[in-house]
Amino acid sequence: MKISACIFDLDGVIVDTAKYHYLAWRRLAREMGFDFSPEHNEQLKGISRMQSLEILLQIGGISLTDAEMIDTAQRKNAWYVDYITTITPDEILPGVVNFLNDLKKNHIKIALGSASKNAGLILQRIELKDIFDAVIDGNKITKAKPDPEIFLMAAQETAAKSSECVVFEDAQAGIEAANNAGMVSIGVGDPETLEQADLVISGFSNMSWKLLKEWLSH
Ligand code: BG6
Ligand code: MG
Repeated sequence: MKISACIFDLDGVIVDTAKYHYLAWRRLAREMGFDFSPEHNEQLKGISRMQSLEILLQIGGISLTDAEMIDTAQRKNAWYVDYITTITPDEILPGVVNFLNDLKKNHIKIALGSASKNAGLILQRIELKDIFDAVIDGNKITKAKPDPEIFLMAAQETAAKSSECVVFEDAQAGIEAANNAGMVSIGVGDPETLEQADLVISGFSNMSWKLLKEWLSH
């Protein structure tokens, strides 16, 4: 296949912020009197802050008013922002920067497709703001993953056809969104969790444009 653009999720793909989201949600759950396991957390990956809160409350069997929901989501976000204040470029996951540069060198457009409203802040902290040809984050979209909107916007902003885009994702909802957009989906993480992906990799350590091209030529 011809590849024109590669689209990357942020949390858990470019940088290991997924663990900080988990810590903040678990802190909230514990405060409300229940435990929140890593398995529960898989359901929260890739989706918006408010949707995550709804699922968390369901798990805990707790119901809140709309005003309390807003306040609670803000509290979680304040903890999360606090956890990420100290992140540096050192926390970019292994191989990511090399792979991004390799793609650029080979004239492949690169885009970010993240549900996070904190994406801009994180990109600034890890000094990757200027590398992307397009950045689509939680402030730009109206429909959360698994809706394909975020990736279709990324394709549009990089002037790439959907069928020529490859998406890298660590979340089930993100893989579904990529599949719904008619793009190639590459899971980053556990093959069992990401079974709907076209292909699953453990990380970017050995990743290159050449290897990607080879895989997708089969
Ligand atoms: C996604 C994460 O990237 O962003 C989710 O996988 C998170 O876990 C979502 O809830 C929204 O992030 P934020 O930073 O806007 O609360
Ligand atoms: Mg993610």
